[in-house]
Amino acid sequence: MRHLLSIRNLTETEFFRLLERGKVHRRNRMLHPAALAGKKVALLFEKSSTRTRLSFTVAVYELGGMAIPLETQMLQMGRGESIEDTTEVMARYVDAVMLRARHHSTLEKMAAMNRIPVINGLSDAYHPCQALADFMTVEQYGLSVRGGLRLAFVGEPNNVFNSLALGSIYAKAQIRIATPPGYPVRPDVLSLLRENGISLEIFTDPVEAVKGAQVVYTDVWVSMGQEQEEQERKKAFSPYCVSESLLKHAADEHIVLHCLPAHRGEEITAGVMDRYRDPIFNQAENRLHIQKAILEWIFNLQ
Ligand code: CP
Ligand code: NVA
Repeated sequence: MRHLLSIRNLTETEFFRLLERGKVHRRNRMLHPAALAGKKVALLFEKSSTRTRLSFTVAVYELGGMAIPLETQMLQMGRGESIEDTTEVMARYVDAVMLRARHHSTLEKMAAMNRIPVINGLSDAYHPCQALADFMTVEQYGLSVRGGLRLAFVGEPNNVFNSLALGSIYAKAQIRIATPPGYPVRPDVLSLLRENGISLEIFTDPVEAVKGAQVVYTDVWVSMGQEQEEQERKKAFSPYCVSESLLKHAADEHIVLHCLPAHRGEEITAGVMDRYRDPIFNQAENRLHIQKAILEWIFNLQ
């Protein structure tokens, strides 16, 4: 049984096959209108979502299946029913589950039961669907996902960064991150990158990180679940804004990516959002196309 909890659940071949398949879906929205005929997919949310909720719902619909989007607080799970019992019950009704989880361990518990395929729709640790859409977008703008890409991440080494970094193992990208003291890269992500010969340079100065970058990526300063740290985070990250002046240090030909939602005036200026709206909103659109590929993979159709 297949699960997508992290990019590490994919082989290199599967990673590239998904990117290719995502492109095929992008070219033809109704490529396989009956691929998931009779299949039901539960979409569970412990946290808010716009893109993940809509893109998965539409992806399942356009593949001919039925999506069931649910907030976990509406379920008995929100009142303490165990993950194991919830998973067992879901396995009796639906064919796969996508979960946006507060804790990555919830996804691991579900997947460990091997009763139903599990897709990570974001956890505190990873956001693999996002990273796949990100690499699709990189390719869409004529940049290489097969080696040599110079990628700069400005901000916290969070769930989005972690998946981008793990994807960089296959894309053989050179990564630089600018993060303030006290917000280190996870040691297991660092070790995986090192073991796989991927160069990750860590800076506190965003200018250093962005120098020569072909992709400048940023994400919110305060992720979901970190709201109680809002004040200290806003202070720590205030020098980490992707602004017009910061981008002067990037490669002449570069794009800016943001997984969204964006906070204009915090991690990105309104001007940069406007100037790079094309790649940023194509990146959001690519979630739909890549998730069709992920669904085909999870059901062993590809
Ligand atoms: N990028 C992303 O996952 O967006 P949502 O939180 O709106 O799903
Ligand atoms: N890092 C952000 C990503 C949102 C898509 C969060 O976890 O809230």
